[in-house]
Amino acid sequence: SPRPLSPIPARRAEGGATVAACDVDGTAAQETVRLLDGSRREEGAPGGNHAAFQADVSEARATRRLLEKVQASFSRPPSVVVSCAGITRDEFLLHMSEDDWDQVIDVNLKGIFLVTQAAAQALVSSGCHGSIINISSIVGKVGNIGQINYAASKAGVIGLTQTAARELGRHGIRCNSVLPGFIATPMTEKMPQKVKDKVTGMIPMGHWGNPEDVADVVAFLASEDSGYITGASVEVTGGLFM
Ligand SMILES: NC(=O)c1ccc[n+]([C@@H]2O[C@H](COP(=O)([O-])OP(=O)(O)OC[C@H]3O[C@@H](n4cnc5c(N)ncnc54)[C@H](O)[C@@H]3O)[C@@H](O)[C@H]2O)c1
Repeated sequence: SPRPLSPIPARRAEGGATVAACDVDGTAAQETVRLLDGSRREEGAPGGNHAAFQADVSEARATRRLLEKVQASFSRPPSVVVSCAGITRDEFLLHMSEDDWDQVIDVNLKGIFLVTQAAAQALVSSGCHGSIINISSIVGKVGNIGQINYAASKAGVIGLTQTAARELGRHGIRCNSVLPGFIATPMTEKMPQKVKDKVTGMIPMGHWGNPEDVADVVAFLASEDSGYITGASVEVTGGLFM
């Protein structure tokens, strides 16, 4: 059954990272940490250093407090920051309400601005290097019928990330965006089956992606294996819209 992109923290933990999981749904963040701790115990390693946080990333004060709490818990700013929070409020341009426009821009674009800024400020002031990874979408590059707000937010994430990469490179902070195509998660579960089938027919690889396909690319961008890559937008689409 579809899962959120929670394999992202799992890949980070497998690579030896200590994970701070944050979600507006605090229970979901706690569940992610519980899963990470459980898998460590199965491997015989002690669980327990990962931590869960609740915050609405579209609110500046909440995001600042989040970074403060993470720094207080781990005694340093996070060296890898993955901004994955995203929502959809689909409607055609001719009928889109101002409220649906604002909500999507607030979470998907302003949220990434706030997290990227707070994380970069913490890294620069402590002299730490880092890798910031922002989840955009292939829709930000090619548009999508019924997603004027979502497409605009995700295109914004690409430009924001490239600009951050230009400004932060000299501080040893890399910034890259990931553009998933159609990935089986709760976000896409609500699409009508007819639309899902149509999309499948358009994917050169002939099938939807899994959250793990995205997590593997995020893990690469987080690691030193991508140490000379910044400002990139990496498509994870099975060849869709290439
Ligand atoms: N599933 C896909 O096909 C697909 C394709 C391209 C891009 N993406 C992007 O990947 C990311 C993850 O999406 P997903 O498919 O796992 O969706 P999802 O709905 O399963 O997960 C999104 C998560 O973001 C959290 N969230 C929402 N608003 C928030 C806020 N204001 N503050 C903090 N957290 C908040 C939700 O609680 C949820 O846990 C999103 O940015 C999405 O736009 C998904």
